[in-house]
Amino acid sequence: MISVVKFLFLTVWFLILLKCSVEPVAQESIVTSLNKIEKEKKQLISLKQDSFFYNEKTPPNFKVAIFGDSGVGKGFESVLELVKKEQAHMVIHLGDFSYYLDHHYGAQIWDKKVNEILGEKYPYFLVAGNHEAPGWNSYVELFYKRLEHLPQGTCKVAQGVKDLGVKSYCNYKGVFMLLSGVGSVGIGHESFIRSALERNNSSDWKICAWHKNQNSLQLGHKPSEVGWAPYKLCQTHGAVVATGHEHSYGRTKTLTEVSNILKDHGAIGANDEVTLAPGENFVSVIGTGGKSFRPYNCLKGALDPWWASIYTTNYVVKNGEALKPLSCVDNLDELKENDQNTIDFGVLFLELNFEGQEKKARGRFVTTKGRVLDEFMVKKEN
Ligand SMILES: [Fe+2]
Repeated sequence: MISVVKFLFLTVWFLILLKCSVEPVAQESIVTSLNKIEKEKKQLISLKQDSFFYNEKTPPNFKVAIFGDSGVGKGFESVLELVKKEQAHMVIHLGDFSYYLDHHYGAQIWDKKVNEILGEKYPYFLVAGNHEAPGWNSYVELFYKRLEHLPQGTCKVAQGVKDLGVKSYCNYKGVFMLLSGVGSVGIGHESFIRSALERNNSSDWKICAWHKNQNSLQLGHKPSEVGWAPYKLCQTHGAVVATGHEHSYGRTKTLTEVSNILKDHGAIGANDEVTLAPGENFVSVIGTGGKSFRPYNCLKGALDPWWASIYTTNYVVKNGEALKPLSCVDNLDELKENDQNTIDFGVLFLELNFEGQEKKARGRFVTTKGRVLDEFMVKKEN
């Protein structure tokens, strides 16, 4: 009797073990992760293995669309429609995507909107913002999926796929993009940024992109959360700096001493012409991607002299000329994305190799209602 019970017990135990070993979900997840590793090898190159060198030239009038802080509402849809209407060739999204606490769900909605308006294969580059910091993995997956439509090795990462948009850089059509989470996600950014810029010093055009900013280089109430080192490194290499986080637009004159506020960050030259050269660049804030729209911080007093153009709810300046004088009495509330009658979001378009001139670009900040609130030429001397 005892041996019969023992036999039955062993048989049941054997069947349980057998079921576990052929569990389809477990098998599938192993295969999926193996595929992921394989794909990672094909598409991404870690900094240690970075022997790829891109010599691709920037085509004439290559148009880059830059904005951040989109949300996934009607504001974002109008911004994507603007990118399509302007026939931009690629997008750099400066973080703060869906604002959903359920990051996986938010990322899916965000991706669906992009796919519907621009398409699954559209070259669309991402940096991590503070709103998706705890759920960046959900966005990394979607970013990675988009890279599969671009040439192998377009983007490089510090170590692995999780570093995309955090400690990464991409080269696409002769445009070097530093895609950094500095101030929002990750640590050890300074050494990565230095190394990335040194390795790509000969790129045609260089754009440093991250989400947060320093207080004096945004128009609202945001505190300094990036530190000066990334700004200084990008200035040393003559790279455009594009940031988000504050929900308004601002673009500086040429800066030669970023961080030196007593010397106005070394602002020089005309409002409507900026220079990119070793030690010279300009900084922009483009948090007008669709989420909300905020006022100029009146506690700042008069507009700091390093700004060339700004666009806020209560103060608009285009190349030094006030299109809307500063009002510190009315209209100080943040405007929300669904109030379509009052909000006019916007995108910075950089047209590189403008009219076929290899060292020229044209910058335009265009709103979703078609207003051109900033227009300037970029001269490259490196
Ligand atoms: Fe933010």
